[in-house]
Amino acid sequence: MQVTGRNEKDSSYYDSIYEGGYDASHYEPVYRHILSIIDRVESPRVLEIGCGIGALAEMIAATGTPYRGFDFSETAVRRCRQRLPHVEFSVGDAYEQVSFRPVDYNVVVATEVLEHVDDHRVIGNIPVGALLIATVPDFDDDSHLRLYRDVRVDIVERFALLLKVHQVGSFTSNSLTTGAPQTYHVFYGTRVAAE
Ligand SMILES: C[S@@+](CC[C@H](N)C(=O)[O-])C[C@H]1O[C@@H](n2cnc3c(N)ncnc32)[C@H](O)[C@@H]1O
Repeated sequence: MQVTGRNEKDSSYYDSIYEGGYDASHYEPVYRHILSIIDRVESPRVLEIGCGIGALAEMIAATGTPYRGFDFSETAVRRCRQRLPHVEFSVGDAYEQVSFRPVDYNVVVATEVLEHVDDHRVIGNIPVGALLIATVPDFDDDSHLRLYRDVRVDIVERFALLLKVHQVGSFTSNSLTTGAPQTYHVFYGTRVAAE
């Protein structure tokens, strides 16, 4: 695991990114892959952590799957509510258990969120039995605390006490800022009780 040594950003950092007209269209192939994973779950009901501007929310809601999302950026949640007035979004912190209640979902989604936070602590807030679908980058950025370079060591083994990882795939897209190719790992696994 490569640790960047950076400090975690607070919500104002993300507020200013979202105020600047950020769009998430470069993630679309990854989101489509996530929809195909959700599609395999019986009666899926989704909670999204760090829902950003609601791009994935829009795709999930369009399938008719029950969905709600939260983010600690008030600007993000405001953009989500403008985009999808009939979908439930809230301002919430992924470190607080209350953000995960009520447990009316069986799937948790977190795209490009875990690298910004203490990932073990956030996964620890997911109820046992829920399926986590997440993406993590193997490239650096101003706000990344770590880079997930080795799928086995950095994902499967590193989360083993909290998560039984079923599958990991990898995607490449071009950076919005530099145009350079960037790789993301998409994985899903069931939250298990710590032994
Ligand atoms: C790189 S963005 C990804 C957003 C979105 N999931 C996407 O795919 O576009 C990371 C998101 O995580 C949110 N975030 C970071 N730390 C958080 C925390 N402690 N609690 C809730 N949201 C957080 C940020 O506000 C931001 O929206």
